[in-house]
Amino acid sequence: MAKDTLTVTDNRTGKQYEIPIEHNAIRAADLKQIQAEPGQGLLSYDPAFLNTAACKSRITFIDGDKGILRYRGYPIEELAEKSNYLETAYLIVKGELPDSERLDKWKNNIKVHTMVHENIKKFMDGFRYDAHPMGMLVGTVGALSTFYPDANKIFDLESRRLQTRRLLGKLPTLAAYAYRRTRGLPYVHPENDLSYTGNFLAMLFRMTEREYRPNPILERALDVLFILHADHEQNCSTNSLRNVASSQVDPYSAVAAAVAALYGPLHGGANEAAVRMLEQIGSVDKIPAYIKRVKEGEVRLMGFGHRIYKNHDPRAKIIKKLADDVLSVTGKSGLIDIAVELERIALEDDYFVSRKLYPNVDFYSGIIYKAMGFPMQFFPVLFALGRVAGWLAHWAEMVRDSEQKIARPRQIYLGEDTRGYITLDKRPRPTLDENAVSELI
Ligand code: ACO
Repeated sequence: MAKDTLTVTDNRTGKQYEIPIEHNAIRAADLKQIQAEPGQGLLSYDPAFLNTAACKSRITFIDGDKGILRYRGYPIEELAEKSNYLETAYLIVKGELPDSERLDKWKNNIKVHTMVHENIKKFMDGFRYDAHPMGMLVGTVGALSTFYPDANKIFDLESRRLQTRRLLGKLPTLAAYAYRRTRGLPYVHPENDLSYTGNFLAMLFRMTEREYRPNPILERALDVLFILHADHEQNCSTNSLRNVASSQVDPYSAVAAAVAALYGPLHGGANEAAVRMLEQIGSVDKIPAYIKRVKEGEVRLMGFGHRIYKNHDPRAKIIKKLADDVLSVTGKSGLIDIAVELERIALEDDYFVSRKLYPNVDFYSGIIYKAMGFPMQFFPVLFALGRVAGWLAHWAEMVRDSEQKIARPRQIYLGEDTRGYITLDKRPRPTLDENAVSELI
């Protein structure tokens, strides 16, 4: 009879241990009992969490080998085709799709929170004219915690609901104001007759017209992009949010930390890198030379490959179709021809096939954002707007999870053993290796 346990032999001592397996995982804390020396329990070492589950979650399912992504059980393809961002946000945060009454209420509850305190505008004005919009978003989202001190009641369901609505309502406003600030344009008040995404477009692009009505195809495309980015289980920014929120800080501070994580080029900045690469290639005839450089290890094919997806990224397929819709409105960009041909050549090449490298979500999203008139610095801001639904869902899940505690990993200490302090007058000149020097100066 098969048992759900793992038997481990410690060859240092010859002792055997039986460790329970639950949900195809062992608890790292169960390794503590394995000791070659008293008090020195065995640790598991996993930099960057390559094979460590840090929580149990019911929000998003990914099967990277099969190219599956589902929010609360619903395939991403169906949500992208039939849902809208606020409905998907409800699903992600609350766990079920709403009926029409609940959806109306949810939309309304978020819309009434789209305005920001006038002092936030002054705060925005304090940034330099060339400030990066993600830096502004990190700062202003964090600042919201000072406007809503009640947000620290994280175990109060009503307070959590209120902060969730506020964050979903205000993030587009903060993002749009960051954009207007960098352009030297006046801030545009939210217009709640428009959809969530339509209002965002209005706050970004409204100029002197009495009424701004977004192009419905572009409005829908951006809404679908928000759906596609709404959650992706334990990615870098979500993990950052969970880490920071585990100290029981308010959700504005935790979301600011998540935005900060998304700011990094390895996370939210890859679509910009993909667009820059396509621009650098310049024309379809230069693709073979670029592919050669990729295969020689000189450069990477940006927007290709994924840590989790080893078949295809299901979001990439949807985005490719969206790119066609958007370009039918904005006019064709030369970049799309290069991207399509690059994808075709790469998918026929054994280098990419054997390494299971397929286009990821970032391969086409940057082309869409660029065609819609967004500056490249703004791409990760758009990512943040979609992802906030996921961050809030993970925050609520974590707060309610009785197994969670303040996140505090262990380390393997490889530094000096005890040393006696030498007074400055007797101390010899230190010998430092190059890395240490650069860190100490
Ligand atoms: N172009 C060329 N070769 C690549 C690429 C690429 N984009 N990605 C991986 N490879 C190669 C590696 O050189 C390696 O080859 P080797 O076995 O001969 O050494 C092999 O494929 C495995 O690559 P790893 O780096 O080990 O894969 P990992 O899972 O660590 O990396 C990552 C995933 C970071 C996404 C990588 O594929 C990459 O750098 N892609 C380009 C950047 C990008 O598009 N990032 C966006 C990801 S999606 C997101 O974050 C929202």
